[in-house]
Amino acid sequence: MTNECFASLEDYRSLARTRLPAAVFDYVDCGACDEVSTRRNRSDFDDLALRPLVLRNVSEPCLAAQVLGWQFPQPLGIAPMAFHRLVHSDGEIATARAANRLNLPMIVSCMSSIPIEDIAAESPHTHLWLQTYIFKNKDVTRELVRRAEEAGYEAIVLTTGCPAPGKRDKNIRNAFALPEGVHAANFQPRNVVVHNNPIHSVEGADLDPSATWRDVEWLRRQTQLPILLKGIMNPNDALQALSLDVSGIIVSNHGGRQLDTTESTICALPDIAAAVGGRLPLLIDSGFRRGTDILKAIALGADTVLVGRPVLWALALGGESGVVAALKLLGDEFRLAMQLAGCDSLSAIRRAASDILRSRAMLRK
Ligand SMILES: Cc1cc2nc3c(=O)[nH]c(=O)nc-3n(C[C@H](O)[C@H](O)[C@H](O)COP(=O)(O)O)c2cc1C
Repeated sequence: MTNECFASLEDYRSLARTRLPAAVFDYVDCGACDEVSTRRNRSDFDDLALRPLVLRNVSEPCLAAQVLGWQFPQPLGIAPMAFHRLVHSDGEIATARAANRLNLPMIVSCMSSIPIEDIAAESPHTHLWLQTYIFKNKDVTRELVRRAEEAGYEAIVLTTGCPAPGKRDKNIRNAFALPEGVHAANFQPRNVVVHNNPIHSVEGADLDPSATWRDVEWLRRQTQLPILLKGIMNPNDALQALSLDVSGIIVSNHGGRQLDTTESTICALPDIAAAVGGRLPLLIDSGFRRGTDILKAIALGADTVLVGRPVLWALALGGESGVVAALKLLGDEFRLAMQLAGCDSLSAIRRAASDILRSRAMLRK
């Protein structure tokens, strides 16, 4: 199958399923428990109906997005994901180079399968942000942040909403274990295999379930880099974030891989946007597969959308150029969705939001 044959991101998933070992495909694809959150992340987009505007001169739509002072050609970025080498031997370096070719930001997981320094060295012009957790041993978090600063990373993304590993039934059934040669390259390997989630087979990298907002203040004191909080689903937490010196919020249920049966992120977004009131950049991920999904998120107050699993499907199938092609496909769909909805910029989408977007649940009332 050549790149031209991929009509949608779902096509990458279908082919990746036939190419990857089943347990690896499931590790990437699965959500927690019954995967209700993961499905909802997709199905709730369908409940938002578009009412296009016509005859609006959309000959040259401008997709440019501003985030944290940087301008990106599209409101798109790569979500943090562990172990890219599970699906392709070039791992995170290929993904970072793809991000660079498109001039989009990539969030590197602290559970990367290539050391964060090597990713930065091999793709020096990529906008790289480091994702980390509050670990039980704070020195582990502090050291990762220090290494990221030294390697030229531009921001720190603190993942919240993971006080303990989510339960992944598929990984348990598959007795999933990282294959020989793939490990959390920023840490020492530990001799324990935890099938549920390999992130938790890393020496000294235990998540701290006692973490609180005070730890965000602590992290703030450790670095000058901008800090974004990933995993915000509740407007109360968005308000807490506002009271601290953070630079952005990522609305995320981690692709439905942590708590099952949560709201979808597209559903959570409007209340969070209302609470934040434009005072912080809002990023969002979980379930974004179509250009119209991005259009809806921008209309509901997001500044940028992050993509997770499709990047790994594309990496598995085509390495660096696979990722470029998949993200380009999504970006092209977004451009077309803007034109067909009658919007020629992100601000035009926001201005027209109440006109072009209807919730089907609302229509049924
Ligand atoms: C294989 C895989 C590994 C992930 N690893 C991490 C991680 O290390 N840290 C993190 O904050 N989120 C992680 N996530 C969650 C993603 O950052 C993101 O929230 C999610 O994948 C977005 O949903 P999508 O895959 O439907 O686009 C991971 C997701 C996948 C699929």
